[in-house]
Amino acid sequence: MTHWQKSAITLAATLVLGVSFMCSSACGSEGIAREPFGHTADGKAVDLYTLTNANGMEVAVTTYGGIVVKLTAPDRQDNYADVVLGFDKLEGYLAGHPYFGAIVGRYGNRIAKGKFTLDGKQYTLATNNGENALHGGLVGFDKKVWRARGALTREGMTLTLNCVSADGEEGYPGKLEVKVVYTLTNDDELKIDYTATTDKATPINLTNHSYFNLAGQGTGDILGHELTIDADRFTPVDAGLIPTGELRPVEGTPFDFRKGTAIGARIEADDEQLKFGGGYDHNFVLNKKGNDLTLAASVYEPKTGRVMEVYTTEPGVQFYCGNFLDGSNVGKGGKVYNFRNGMCLETQHFPNSPNQPDFPSTILRPGEEYRTTTVYKFFAK
Ligand code: GLA
Repeated sequence: MTHWQKSAITLAATLVLGVSFMCSSACGSEGIAREPFGHTADGKAVDLYTLTNANGMEVAVTTYGGIVVKLTAPDRQDNYADVVLGFDKLEGYLAGHPYFGAIVGRYGNRIAKGKFTLDGKQYTLATNNGENALHGGLVGFDKKVWRARGALTREGMTLTLNCVSADGEEGYPGKLEVKVVYTLTNDDELKIDYTATTDKATPINLTNHSYFNLAGQGTGDILGHELTIDADRFTPVDAGLIPTGELRPVEGTPFDFRKGTAIGARIEADDEQLKFGGGYDHNFVLNKKGNDLTLAASVYEPKTGRVMEVYTTEPGVQFYCGNFLDGSNVGKGGKVYNFRNGMCLETQHFPNSPNQPDFPSTILRPGEEYRTTTVYKFFAK
């Protein structure tokens, strides 16, 4: 029996018994541990799963919202530190927060006025962002308790999360069955595979809303992080952050991240788009044809040397630099999250696609399978 087979059997047995599994020293500290994380207001039990790879990298995910609570990454000295914003306890998430680490759905980002027409029928969604629908509505996937199952696979430690969204939930048509698989590999990658099926045509746009600070969560702002995005164009927005429909060249604008540039270098420029977003809060049109898994963006933090690369099958990425953080969230270890203390790279289809026939389609139909993958890879240089 190979080491991998032995580990898989031990893991299966221990997870069924509901206890933690840790591998022997032969594979470092590789394993999955499950612990109770509290209860929702309506009494549902919530768990926290911690995946650890052979290098000691840890990713903790709660079944509440599929939220990435903790993610550690190596610096130049190979010190792993937590680089995502979040809370130590479930209560922090239940009290309300700006989607820290969450799975976002059914529709990541905005749908204008919470309305769209599909196959001749108009649908009205719950609105929760002024007159617009944002990130799935009032009770989006970030607030659901997901079913979870851990496993050791050839690719690494996996946590499979499932949820069902009822026909009509938040105004969306069709019963949607969703599966999200988090895989932590021994190459210090967090891979996220999203799949879904529906029994009626519906828009869908799933993403993860982790806020990163590669210097370590709670260490200040991210303006010195150097960002590269493989995008010649972005989707400019109106004052309500709804794309106008234009695909605008980044050339000669503060949105040109084709060469690594500090996020803070041009953020105060006199630019209407930056004013609308209160900084960067925009969808970038990735330079790709088709839906292969390709490098979309990378971030380098010069003090620690930490690098994060983002690969995706998606056509776009929302770069949001924490413009709405205002110190009101007290996070892990008592750290206060102030203005621009974290940044998100939300891989996605473009915002408001159901109302923009020229954008790539977000409509999933019965008999089809929605399938996207995003990988966040960490190393130092
Ligand atoms: C996304 C949106 C932002 C904001 C955050 C959550 O990134 O584009 O405008 O809503 O989520 O605060």
